[in-house]
Amino acid sequence: MFLPTIKKVDIKDLNTKKLPKHIAIIMDGNGRWAKQKGLIRAIGHQNGTKSVRETVEACAELGIENLTLYAFSTENWNRPKLEVDTLMKLLVSSLKKEIKTLQENNIKLSAIGNLKTLPSKVNKELSDVIKSTENNNRMTLTLALSYGSREELLNTVKEISIKVKNNIISTENIDESIINEHLYTQNLPDVDLLIRTSGEQRISNFLLWQIAYAELYFTKILWPDFTKQHLYDAISEYQKRERRFGKTSEQIS
Ligand code: IPE
Ligand code: IPE
Ligand code: MG
Repeated sequence: MFLPTIKKVDIKDLNTKKLPKHIAIIMDGNGRWAKQKGLIRAIGHQNGTKSVRETVEACAELGIENLTLYAFSTENWNRPKLEVDTLMKLLVSSLKKEIKTLQENNIKLSAIGNLKTLPSKVNKELSDVIKSTENNNRMTLTLALSYGSREELLNTVKEISIKVKNNIISTENIDESIINEHLYTQNLPDVDLLIRTSGEQRISNFLLWQIAYAELYFTKILWPDFTKQHLYDAISEYQKRERRFGKTSEQIS
């Protein structure tokens, strides 16, 4: 039987001058991956950490400046307690384990979300790794933890209102840059490429403001099966798109 050969994107095929400055990933499908194999969900999450490592290393190697990973949403608190506890434990052990990889690859760790709601053990490990990688400058890896975009926007509105009330900012001066400065993502550029694995085609409360003009890429691959190759495929697809930002095609070329 004739099977068409699918040409895989080689790292050399990627245009290094047209790399996304900021890639964000909704790492989805751990539970289904485990279920397909007759395993418990926790094993899916465990295997997901391998994809995290591979993706982080691949992005750093390529020269991606910012990678943001959706690891735990505000809505994920509603999962069974056992699963939440497993995820929090996995986070602590991964942070402990990966600090070496981050240092070796000159990667700076950062976190966004309503971090005070995380267990103290997670917060401690997180702040240790953030502190010890703060001078690294090859790539910024941001973990979205207890993150919800609506919560972030709500928090932004509250912070700005307090400043208006205290005459630190005047209402007339509120512009997009003021809003950016008050978001959890304050130092990050807008997302260029948003990847979601597992076949779901939704945003699930992730970076609503920051993805205003991102290119969206959905793949059926479940997160624990996601490899460098899939990342290259996504970037290759991104590089084929024409980003017009409201202009005409003629204006762009
Ligand atoms: C993503 O995988 C990990 C988190 C949301 C923490 P899921 O756990 O959502 O896996 P599915 O979607 O049930 O397959
Ligand atoms: C989004 O995945 C959150 C993370 C990947 C951390 P979910 O699995 O929680 O999203 P829904 O429930 O399918 O929208
Ligand atoms: Mg899911």
